[in-house]
Amino acid sequence: MKVDELRARAASKELDPCTKSNYHSFSATQTTLNLDVSFEKKNIVGSVTYDLKKTASTSEVVLDTSYLDINGVKIDGVSVSYDLGKRTEPFGSPLKISLPANEEAFKLTVLFNTTENSTALQFIDKEATDSKVSDYLFSQCQAIHARSMFPCFDTPGFKSPYSFRVHSPSYALMSGRPVESSESDTYLFEQPIPIPSYLVAIASGNLAHAPIGPRSTIYTEPPNLDACQWEFEKDMENFLQVAEGLIYKYEWLKYDALILPLSFPYGGMENPNITFATPTLISKDRSQVNVMAHELAHSWSGNLVTNCTWEHFWLNEGWTVYLERRILGGVASVEAKQNGDKDYIDAGEKVRHFAAILGWNSLVDTVKIMPAQFTRLVWDLKSSTPDDAFSKIPYEKGFSFLFYLETVLGGVDHFDPFMKYYFNKYRYKSLDSYQFIDTLYEFYEPIGKKEVLDSVDWNTWLFGDGIPPSTPKFDTRLADECYTLAEKWLNFDKFQGQYSESDIAKFEADQHLLFLGTMSEKFSDKTPPLEVYEELRRVYPQYSEATNGEIIAGWADLQLKSGYFNAEDALVKKFAAWLGTVGRMKFARPGYTLLKNHVDYNFAVSTFRKFESRYHPICKTMVKKDLGLE
Ligand code: BES
Ligand code: ZN
Repeated sequence: MKVDELRARAASKELDPCTKSNYHSFSATQTTLNLDVSFEKKNIVGSVTYDLKKTASTSEVVLDTSYLDINGVKIDGVSVSYDLGKRTEPFGSPLKISLPANEEAFKLTVLFNTTENSTALQFIDKEATDSKVSDYLFSQCQAIHARSMFPCFDTPGFKSPYSFRVHSPSYALMSGRPVESSESDTYLFEQPIPIPSYLVAIASGNLAHAPIGPRSTIYTEPPNLDACQWEFEKDMENFLQVAEGLIYKYEWLKYDALILPLSFPYGGMENPNITFATPTLISKDRSQVNVMAHELAHSWSGNLVTNCTWEHFWLNEGWTVYLERRILGGVASVEAKQNGDKDYIDAGEKVRHFAAILGWNSLVDTVKIMPAQFTRLVWDLKSSTPDDAFSKIPYEKGFSFLFYLETVLGGVDHFDPFMKYYFNKYRYKSLDSYQFIDTLYEFYEPIGKKEVLDSVDWNTWLFGDGIPPSTPKFDTRLADECYTLAEKWLNFDKFQGQYSESDIAKFEADQHLLFLGTMSEKFSDKTPPLEVYEELRRVYPQYSEATNGEIIAGWADLQLKSGYFNAEDALVKKFAAWLGTVGRMKFARPGYTLLKNHVDYNFAVSTFRKFESRYHPICKTMVKKDLGLE
């Protein structure tokens, strides 16, 4: 496709293949969601009211539902008939409501309850929580699970402001600003900024809270509160300020976060006003705060400016990874300046580029294992689901694309004005990749940069399989330290006796990961003798004692891939026990695969069976697939 054709596509709206709803015929001025949580029945009984306006001619409203019971439908307060269509996988059952003639603007109310099949909700018995005081509930709606929590136009292309009301015997949080409530066991929230359905979230349980910044509060179960507060209180406000400097003011007023029980299947989820995050971030060394920078960045990319269908998911995640790294670099630069470093900008760039190198490596690894069609930036989801397509590709190929554009357009000084323009233009809106390219031209053409854009190979970037058409040049100073040390271990005969703990003493958190990852890759090409592994454990005891999930996983990967260990070894037992404490798929899936491929298949399965009741349904399904149990 020529660039003019690509730009012309910006004019026609992309339709979302992952929704059965007729969202393109309506806009919502307000949505009111009432939820009543029952821990006995493990369900939510609710009602949702949409204030709708017709934007195209139609005689019905079609909403997405999945495993919901529908208990009634009203238009402007009057009960009407409805039809719940047959279920198709994985999209669920469309709920069809005929409209009276000439109904242009109206209130549509649907009464419903969730069922035990809801893919969005996880109920946890109190015995399985950390505080053991009360049962716990949390939701995870991205990408297409909101429809199993309430009937909705389940597409990122449809936004509405929300009012939330939750009745629950336990403290409850939702994705909005808390409002005083006079009723007991009732929690109210307002979300005045229009949001798509996938950002609606609920959690309820025995929750305590503490400040982690002037406009940030951390929530978690009481026994973990101090540790959670410590992990983020140093960085949170700095992240917010750097991000605001890059884009514009943080609009959601407060940025709070909830640290969930171990079964939360992702690292983090950018639910507006209340990011949900895995307890594996609490590593007691502040080494995983980048996840918080990432979720915060979604407050602009994703939550204000949104991909209009999941086929353009890279617009959400690629931009967010780009901003995450700008934030981390920005904070490093501020710190360097405070420490009197004259080259403080360089100090920040060094950090940003190092994160980008780790990202590039994971892009190269992911391309090797993902089906080719999902290694494209723009997906075709007409015959597959967003969950099948999900991987690091939209994150890292998306980042590479933006980093490439930044570079060819003349560096950050020339890219930042565009960034502000883009985030202003699409604030509160949803867009596709063609609108993104069109906006680049709109911004850069008048300032004489059309030729630069014309030289970009748009087709290969958007629709080409595999690694990007251009390999970025990164500053490798921090990475080189890791490669040099790995090289010394690859030449064990020559350097034997010369290794010491001081080799890694000055490493930044992520340098350990690059070192371990490089070693693991090289060692699996040619496995060295057992004594090398023993020497590694002797010289670097801190790796065996790590509390940081990233290090535990990287270290186990390096050691166990050797094949020297069986289920009886202490090191394997310790790793297997740790797997029982992590429901974050990023760790659980490769962890079981490691046991299966390099220790013992039966041990992998028995370990999984022992712990499976602790995991989220999404995680259980994926590990079962990985272990060949499905
Ligand atoms: N929005 C994602 C999580 C997600 C994506 C959930 C797709 C369901 C479907 C979140 O912002 C994310 O990317 N989390 C990462 C953090 C990382 C890239 C820093 C994670 O969970 O590991
Ligand atoms: Zn993200």
